[in-house]
Amino acid sequence: MDSFTKFAPHLIKTNNVAFKERNKVTEIYKNPPIGKKVIIKGWVRTKRESKNVIFINLNDGSTIKNIQIVADPDKLKKDQAIKITTGACLSVTGEVVESQGKGQSFEVIADQVTILGESHPDEYPLQPKKHSLEFLREIAHLRPRTNTFSAILRIRHAMTFAIHKFFNDKGFVNFHSPIITSSDAEGAGEMFRVTTLPPNSVPVNDSGELDFKDDFFGKEASLTVSGQLEGELAALALGEIYTFGPTFRAENSNTTRHLAEFWMIEPEMAFYDLEDNMNLTEEFLKYLVQYALDNCLDDLEFLKNRALDEEKNKPQNERNELDLIERLKFILENPFERISYSQAIDILKDSKPNKKGKFQFPIEGFGADLQSEHERYLVEKHFKKPVILFDYPKDIKAFYMKQNSDGKTVKAMDVLFPGIGEIVGGSQREEDYDKLLSRVKELNIPQESLWWYLETRKFGSCPHSGFGLGFERLMLFVTGMGNIRDVIPFPRTPGNAEF
Ligand code: 4AD
Repeated sequence: MDSFTKFAPHLIKTNNVAFKERNKVTEIYKNPPIGKKVIIKGWVRTKRESKNVIFINLNDGSTIKNIQIVADPDKLKKDQAIKITTGACLSVTGEVVESQGKGQSFEVIADQVTILGESHPDEYPLQPKKHSLEFLREIAHLRPRTNTFSAILRIRHAMTFAIHKFFNDKGFVNFHSPIITSSDAEGAGEMFRVTTLPPNSVPVNDSGELDFKDDFFGKEASLTVSGQLEGELAALALGEIYTFGPTFRAENSNTTRHLAEFWMIEPEMAFYDLEDNMNLTEEFLKYLVQYALDNCLDDLEFLKNRALDEEKNKPQNERNELDLIERLKFILENPFERISYSQAIDILKDSKPNKKGKFQFPIEGFGADLQSEHERYLVEKHFKKPVILFDYPKDIKAFYMKQNSDGKTVKAMDVLFPGIGEIVGGSQREEDYDKLLSRVKELNIPQESLWWYLETRKFGSCPHSGFGLGFERLMLFVTGMGNIRDVIPFPRTPGNAEF
């Protein structure tokens, strides 16, 4: 096999020129085929030109690295040089040679340049300069063309793949829970309704309440807030399953950590107790971080340097002690701290910010719902590492969690991460029919919408557990970005569903 065929076996070769397909820049970097012809298709990042030569930095999306194209203006067709502007899409055929210049070890001497798509320079909003993240959100259709967003999107893909690989290697079954549902899994009433009823004449019953009898599904339906309840049904048949799907919450939380549409991974395991659940969660999160370090290093290095650059403008006390890569490695090297909710309350009650009235929500004692400020205090100031809190008061947790014998707490667990707060929420589930039913009644949850869930506790119930990882919260941690709107292609937040 000659080196060209070895280098790009999928390409058709005629007179040593590959055509029809393209050589991906990432492959070229892995093993530069010096002296060989390649075809590169990508978008112009920058162009520098003098009378005798044009240097074009082309990016094809396969890597953060651009490839330098060297073109002779005399060889270009009429007007081509003017049309090669930032953002234009080119197909370039040329030879890979060792580079004479600084900044790259090889470059491509163009024989032929075709402009596939011009980019009108007066209108193209992405110029070779730094743009603010806020501005880029307004042009979310173009932001994947920036280094920052292409890096994030490649990491997002790698994390998706790693999640499936982790569970597949362990023999978990990927289970597709429904997106349209008639039950509120978390009982928080934050659901988006799905209806085909005409907005201007909604039917009402005799008591003046909305009547969904004539609606598409013949009953009230919404977008799911979690695939867990259906996931539990599957675990009670297949043993170990996981879901990975879109999730919708109509909570009016305009924060840097909340989306109205996000992706969640929800494994559910028969025969696992809360401790098994914690062990799996920790192994899973460490696996994903290791996968990112092993497979996305170029993109992570770019994001690390970007963050360091941003931090230069911040006061010393607001800067991260560790850079992005160090933070990721730190997660791998340290066991997560595991403490009960009651222990956490004691720590928080005695903490300086609580005593000095610095918390927006002061901690008075058992029963307090922990806010992000408390979670971050525990993780970032007190333990300085990820923390798993367990055994929460039953009154602040969902109906399905297994009740402890103290009558006050449930076998819940939340994983708290530095810079993020809660990244995972999970629990051991109540498998006892009578206890589950009495909790459903206590909370006035309509039984008729959950009959199928309750029935699993009558037919071959068993101890089981599971958790939910917010995919974008994971992405925040892995990329070191500060706003959840910047780690999903098209964020959905209150007042924002553009694109
Ligand atoms: O803690 P939550 O609400 O748990 C559940 O939904 C359970 N059914 C999970 C389970 O046991 N199978 O949500 C789980 C995770 C949170 O820890 C957080 O990472 C993420 O989902 N999350 C959000 N991410 C972005 N925007 C929001 N509005 C989110 N709400 C929750």
